[in-house]
Amino acid sequence: MTPAQETHPPALDVRGLVKEFHGREVVRAVDGLDLRVARGEVVAFLGPNGAGKTTTIDLALGLARPTAGTVRVLGQAPADAVAAGRVAAVMQTGGLLRDLTVGETVRLTAALFGTGHDVRASLERAGIADLERRRVGRCSGGQQQRLRFAMALVSEPDLLFLDEPTTGMDVMGRRDFWSAVRADAARGRTVVFATHYLDEAELYADRVVVVSRGRVVADGTAAQIKDAAGVRTLEDAFVRLTSAVGTSAGGAR
Ligand SMILES: Nc1ncnc2c1ncn2[C@@H]1O[C@H](COP(=O)(O)OP(=O)(O)O)[C@@H](O)[C@H]1O
Ligand SMILES: [Mg+2]
Repeated sequence: MTPAQETHPPALDVRGLVKEFHGREVVRAVDGLDLRVARGEVVAFLGPNGAGKTTTIDLALGLARPTAGTVRVLGQAPADAVAAGRVAAVMQTGGLLRDLTVGETVRLTAALFGTGHDVRASLERAGIADLERRRVGRCSGGQQQRLRFAMALVSEPDLLFLDEPTTGMDVMGRRDFWSAVRADAARGRTVVFATHYLDEAELYADRVVVVSRGRVVADGTAAQIKDAAGVRTLEDAFVRLTSAVGTSAGGAR
């Protein structure tokens, strides 16, 4: 271990995480999930609907409490890291006021964090500096997601969660969104994103974590996951890993 690793805890440290929802029946959304993300990594979180991706992100943002296990974010409890602006998120919907302009929206976010935040830099990094005066309600879905990205950048978080950020966008919108995220990640920010577009995982992530039924069923580069599953495409690996019911076949972790 290098001295830097000793003094810098991982960006995300999830151990034995369990989350149950108690309603008419008990749903175990997260079922013993283990995951460590080093600083500067870009990690894709892949899994079928209901695999527990959003619940895990919610737990890492301190929006819900674990039933068992622990989540540490940058060495802190999630709620503390969020309050300090060290972790931020782009969720799929909500949080925008249609009648404000793009610039007003980001200035409002900056005001919530106090003084000294560079609104212009956030707009530029999100690739929407030219949209500063446009009303939010007139922005396309892709532009609105880049606006949420700009809002998430205001506090200069070390760790950013993106929960299916491009769902419903057209090809160009997705491409523009990811080029902004990638350019920003190149500056050293840690990014964890959930997606159901396998091409996004393959193109934009350093590492792919496949989740099924609340557990990690594969973890590695896209190439390692394909090799371990003995298939040629990430889609084939995904199908194999996430549809294996009650079998112990397959060696991928
Ligand atoms: N607030 C909740 N109450 C009850 N069940 C929930 C709640 N949130 C999520 N779930 C259930 O937990 C499981 C995992 O959901 P989720 O984390 O949203 O999966 P994903 O984001 O991977 O699609 C699903 O079965 C979902 O129906
Ligand atoms: Mg989800």
